[in-house]
Amino acid sequence: MIGRLNHVAIAVPDLHEASQIYATILGSNVSKPVSLPAHGVTVVFVDLPNTKIELLHPLGDTSPIKKFLEKNPLGGIHHICYEVEDILESAKQLTLKGIKILGTGIPEIGAHGKPVLFLSPKNFMGTLIELEQV
Ligand code: CO
Repeated sequence: MIGRLNHVAIAVPDLHEASQIYATILGSNVSKPVSLPAHGVTVVFVDLPNTKIELLHPLGDTSPIKKFLEKNPLGGIHHICYEVEDILESAKQLTLKGIKILGTGIPEIGAHGKPVLFLSPKNFMGTLIELEQV
């Protein structure tokens, strides 16, 4: 059902420092910070040959990343994103298999302008999984 790994999202307490580590120590191409108020995050995109890393920093008081950083002050992997061809069909199949879809269960437009859904970490060994239709 799932396709490529689209990205790994890492919550970071200091976006500039995290961005510098990827750029100067690991030698990756990093974007400028992009603020996404609708998602409550500021993101730096790191391009790798086979996937992307998204460095996430809270934006606003209701940011979903804020609580995560309170529990993980050094930062940490927040979610991984798999690509799917048909997100509604994937949601239907997963629900039939007993997987819980978070929120309303209706796909929303994600950080890349494409429909996304999040699956409960309780069904995936503690890992928050995002599905993105590509
Ligand atoms: Co994501």
